[in-house]
Amino acid sequence: MDDGQGHAGRWALITGASAGIGEAFARLLGGHGCSLILTSRRTERLESLAAGIRESHGVEVQCHSCDLGQPDGVESLISSIDVDVDILINSAGYAIPDYFIDSDWDSIRRFLEVMAMAPIHLSHAYMPGMVDRGWGRVIHVSSLAGFVPESPGSLYGPSKSFMVSYARSQARELKGSGVHITALCPGFTRTEFHDVLGNREEVDRMPRWMWSEVDPVVRAGWSAVEKGREVCIPGLVNKGIQAMFALMPSAIQRKLPYTRMPGRHEISDSEPERHG
Ligand SMILES: NC(=O)c1ccc[n+]([C@@H]2O[C@H](COP(=O)([O-])OP(=O)(O)OC[C@H]3O[C@@H](n4cnc5c(N)ncnc54)[C@H](OP(=O)(O)O)[C@@H]3O)[C@@H](O)[C@H]2O)c1
Repeated sequence: MDDGQGHAGRWALITGASAGIGEAFARLLGGHGCSLILTSRRTERLESLAAGIRESHGVEVQCHSCDLGQPDGVESLISSIDVDVDILINSAGYAIPDYFIDSDWDSIRRFLEVMAMAPIHLSHAYMPGMVDRGWGRVIHVSSLAGFVPESPGSLYGPSKSFMVSYARSQARELKGSGVHITALCPGFTRTEFHDVLGNREEVDRMPRWMWSEVDPVVRAGWSAVEKGREVCIPGLVNKGIQAMFALMPSAIQRKLPYTRMPGRHEISDSEPERHG
C-alpha cells in the first residue's frame, strides 16, 4: 500500500469533495501532504472539510463551488485554478431515479455533463501538464454498475462503462509518460449516494456483506493508481460479482430480475403483439 510519501506539495483537484468517496479522497491525500482543491456545489461543506484537513495536516486547501451540470461549470472552475494540478480525482456523481423516456432532456443533459463531460474536460485540461512534468495521477470514480447487466431505462450503468473504457484508452495513450489513470469501480459503498437517489430504504434491506465502507474503497483506488492499474474493483465480493458476470452468457443475464423504477410504463419481457 502506498504511504503517499513523496507527494507532499503536489496539487490534487477533487470533484464531489463535499461527501462520500470524494471527501474520503480529500482526507487521504491531505494526510499524504498534498495541497488540495476541493469542488462541489455545497460550499459550506467544503469549507468545513477544508478547515479540518488544514488543522490535521497543515496543508493548503482551496475550495471552489461549482455545478458541473452547468454547460460552463467546468470552464469557470478551470479558469479559477491557478496552480499545476498533478492529481485529478473525478468523484462527483449521482443517478437519475426515472426511466429514460420519463426524464426531461435537461436532466439527462445535466447528468451527462457531470458523469462524462466534466471528467473528460478536466482530464483534457490537466493531463498535458502532467505529461510535460512527467508525473500525474488520475482516478475516475466509475462503478461496478459498468460491468453488470444494465438496469432498464437507466443511463447510470452505461455512463460508468463508458468511463471504464475511456480510462483504459487514456491509460494506453499515456503509457510510459509517468501519468497513471485508473477507473475505480466500487460496488455498494456507504455514502450519501442512495439518500440522494431516494432508495435508501430499499438498499438498506440488502445483506451487509454487499456493502463496503468508504475508506477501504479509496485506499484501494489510490494504491491501484500508484501501481499503474487501469481498473480497480475494490473488495473480494465486488471482484467476484464482476468475474461472475464476465463469464455469464448475456442470454442468462437478460433473464435476471432487476429493480423497477416508478414510471409511466410497464416493462414487459415479451414484444407487444404487432397489428397491421
Ligand atoms: N456509493 C455507492 O454505492 C457508489 C458505488 C459505485 C460508484 N459510486 C460513484 O462514486 C462517486 C461518488 O459518489 P458517492 O457515493 O461519494 O456519493 P455522494 O456521497 O452522494 O457524493 C456525491 C458527490 O458528488 C457531488 N455532485 C453531485 N452532483 C454534482 C454537480 N452537479 N456538480 C458538482 N458536484 C456534484 C456532490 O456534491 P454537491 O451535492 O455538494 O454538489 C457530492 O460531493 C459517484 O460518481 C458515484 O456514481 C458510488
